[in-house]
Amino acid sequence: MSRALAESRAPGPDAAAPAPAGTAEASPRPISAETVSANPAPPVPASIAPVATPLLDARLGAAAARFGTPSYVYCTDLAGERLADLRAHLGRWFAISFAVKSNPNPALLDWMRDRLDFLDISSGGELALSRQAGWDPARISFTGPAKQEPELRAAIETGLGELVLESLREAELANAIAARTGRVQPVLVRIAPARVPKGFGDQMAGRPSPFGIDVEDAAEILPRIARLPHLRIIGLHIYSGTQCLKPDAICENWRIFMQVFSDICTAQNLRPEKLIFGAGLGIPYHPGDATLDLGAIAAAIGPELDAFRADPRFAGTRLVLELGRYLIGPAGWFVTRVVSVKQSRGTRIAICDGGMNANLAASGNFGMVLRRNYLIHRIGGDEDGARPIEKQDISGPLCTSIDKLGGGVVLPRLEAGDLIAIHACGAYGPSASPLYFISHPLPREVLMTGGQLRDITRIGEDRPHRATDPTRPDGAR
Ligand SMILES: Cc1ncc(COP(=O)(O)O)c(C=O)c1O
Repeated sequence: MSRALAESRAPGPDAAAPAPAGTAEASPRPISAETVSANPAPPVPASIAPVATPLLDARLGAAAARFGTPSYVYCTDLAGERLADLRAHLGRWFAISFAVKSNPNPALLDWMRDRLDFLDISSGGELALSRQAGWDPARISFTGPAKQEPELRAAIETGLGELVLESLREAELANAIAARTGRVQPVLVRIAPARVPKGFGDQMAGRPSPFGIDVEDAAEILPRIARLPHLRIIGLHIYSGTQCLKPDAICENWRIFMQVFSDICTAQNLRPEKLIFGAGLGIPYHPGDATLDLGAIAAAIGPELDAFRADPRFAGTRLVLELGRYLIGPAGWFVTRVVSVKQSRGTRIAICDGGMNANLAASGNFGMVLRRNYLIHRIGGDEDGARPIEKQDISGPLCTSIDKLGGGVVLPRLEAGDLIAIHACGAYGPSASPLYFISHPLPREVLMTGGQLRDITRIGEDRPHRATDPTRPDGAR
């Protein structure tokens, strides 16, 4: 990844006013993958404790000091690096579409507007957020297995790029709405393949599934959709698995997609304008997780993608990679403050102001079968050896034992008032968490661009956000 690239990007117009000297904004250097991964802070093995630099810690600490905790901090420099990396490896074949479900924050969507090709939304609410962020509806597709009349109507009336049809019911409903609107709505048909290779965190096809039209039913259903006069099939869509860290499995999955696309397009005599590949690209969440090697994917599947595109049927086809977490997940941290420490029967437990209520995924309750720790570090490291390194549990503020952010995490000894940062929290954060459970104040969201920090909190404008006064480690309001 190119650090130069990150450094060359000037702070955008959304940059905030500089913070007081001594906080992160005193330095204009952007955070890059190298800044994050170089120079481990606590002197423990990288496989156990994640890495963080003083620069990153200064910025995360400044975000907590200015905006309170718990907070999500999203770094546009890192997201920009990841996008450049994606394009460098896969841009020869694919345009990129961002799945809004992974992070619907309008400030981030705004940042993406001139950088990404398309958005994929999955509800009327995500349509509104994307429009609020200035996205042209013609660049938006709309997936989701239970679309209802009001959101379909809003999408069709606003000039949605493509509706991704997941059933005949939806096709008939959309056709009736488009007829009333006097439009012919471009549609993609979502297909659920018969097989998903091993290695995906969540498998959305290859077995009974609510998503899309099963490939074995396509021959019967596609002609019925094609006969609806106010819909125009312009292509196909497959999203069958998420969170895969194995290049071989990703290539195998895309091979399955190409076969399904070829078979259906040939059978239906379709020359598609667009084919969407649900990417499935995973990110490392846990100590020891591998980083996905995009170069290996490109090298392995490139010749087959070239051959696919050389088919005259696909001469005018735009291939699109649809993804969320790969772009934004590693560019976000969840920062929470230790409110209280308990020594309990031989285990030290740091109890924080944000837990599963603010970050369900990091608590292991968002689709994880066995809870595993995310990468976590103490902001400020071990203070030059002043803090002994030891195993500790980390829990949140809720009155339930499932509110646990870490078990046996090897970190500098935590005390009340300390800040910890959980890595890989840029996707499926606040919007995928039970924010109202036990009615604690809601987490903030902070945008970090170079040395600039900006409060971009979107959720709960009707409620107080700040859990604690950041200057008072006892947690007073
Ligand atoms: C249809 C669809 N598109 C995109 C995504 C985004 O997946 P990820 O964030 O893993 O890239 C999902 C995730 O479930 C999905 O269901």
